[in-house]
Amino acid sequence: MSIIFSGVQPTSTPTLGNYLGAIRNFPELQEGNECYYCIVDQHAITVPQDSQLLHERIRKLAAIYLAVGIDPNQSTLFIQSEVPAHAQLGWILQCYCYIGELERMTQFKDKSKGKDAVSTGLLTYPPLMAADILLYNTNLVPVGADQKQHLELTRNVAERLNNKYGELFTVPEVFIPPVGARIMSLVEPTKKMSKSDDNQKATIFILDSEKDITKKIKSATTDSDQSIYYDKEQKPGISNLLDIYSLCSGKSIKDLENEYRDQGYGSFKTDVAEAVVNTLKPIQEKYYNLIETNQLDEILDDGASKAQSVAVKTLARVEKAIGL
Ligand code: ADP
Ligand code: NA
Repeated sequence: MSIIFSGVQPTSTPTLGNYLGAIRNFPELQEGNECYYCIVDQHAITVPQDSQLLHERIRKLAAIYLAVGIDPNQSTLFIQSEVPAHAQLGWILQCYCYIGELERMTQFKDKSKGKDAVSTGLLTYPPLMAADILLYNTNLVPVGADQKQHLELTRNVAERLNNKYGELFTVPEVFIPPVGARIMSLVEPTKKMSKSDDNQKATIFILDSEKDITKKIKSATTDSDQSIYYDKEQKPGISNLLDIYSLCSGKSIKDLENEYRDQGYGSFKTDVAEAVVNTLKPIQEKYYNLIETNQLDEILDDGASKAQSVAVKTLARVEKAIGL
C-alpha cells in the first residue's frame, strides 16, 4: 500500500495536459492505496486572481475530480485552504529552505520573468507544496514532468529536517508517467501546454466543446514534411499529437505510425480530434450532472475533516521536535 498525494491549482479549467499528465492516473491509484487529492487554492493566489472566478473554479475543479472517477469514499478529496495545517507546516518549512534554492526553481524563474512585481508567495510556493505532501506521510506523488524539481526540493527539505531532528517525515518518491508527462502547446510545441497561455488556440481545456477541440487540433502547428512519425526534436508538433492520440485511444505510438505514416496531416488531425473528444465527452457529461447538485459541499467538508485529522498529527510531531 502507498500513501499518495497530488494537487491541481484551481487557476482555470484543467487542461488536456493536466489530465493526461496527472489527473488521469488518479482514479486507478485509488485501488489498494490511501489517496489524498487536493485543490491547491493557496498555490493559485501566488499570482493575481479574480476572487469571484477563483471561488467558482474551486468548485468546478472538485466536480472535475469526481467526474474523472475519484471516489470520495475511497479517497480524501479536499480544499487546501480548509486544512490549516498546510499553511502552518508550510511556514515552518519556509524557515528550513534557503532563498537561493528557491530562486533556482525553473518555475519561479519562468513565472517571474519580465514581471515588475512578483509576490513573495511565488517564491515560497515550493515549501508550501512540500508541506502539502509531507503532512500525509506520502510515499508517492503522481505529477507531470514540470513538478520534478519541486519534488526534489520536497525530498531535500524532508531529509534536512530528518537529519537534524530524527525521522520526522517520510521521504516521498515522484511518479511521472512514462507517456504524457509533458503535453506541449498546440501553437508552440516546444513549450508545455499551460492553463495560463495567452493564445487560446494553444491549450485544450477539459470542458472544451467538440467544435473547439476540433478547431484547435486542426490548427495545431506541425511541419512541412508530410510524414507521420515520432521524433520530438525534428517533429515536435506531430510527436505531441501522437502522444495525445496514443493516450486518448490506447493505441501504441508504433501502431499509429504504421497506420498513418503515409496519410496526410489533415486526416490524421481529424482522427486525433475525435479521440480527444471521445475521451473528454464522458467526463464532461458527469461534470455537468455534478455541478448542479449540492453533493459537492458535503464531499469537500468531509474530505477536509478527514485530511485535517491526519495532518494535525504530523504538524504536532514537527512542532514538538523543533521546540514550538
Ligand atoms: P498548470 O501547470 O497547468 O498551472 P498545475 O500546476 O495545477 O497546472 O498542475 C497540475 C498537474 O498537472 C501537475 O501534476 C502538473 O505536473 C501537471 N501538468 C501541468 N501541465 C502539464 C502538461 N503540459 N503536460 C503534462 N502534465 C502537466
Ligand atoms: Na504546474
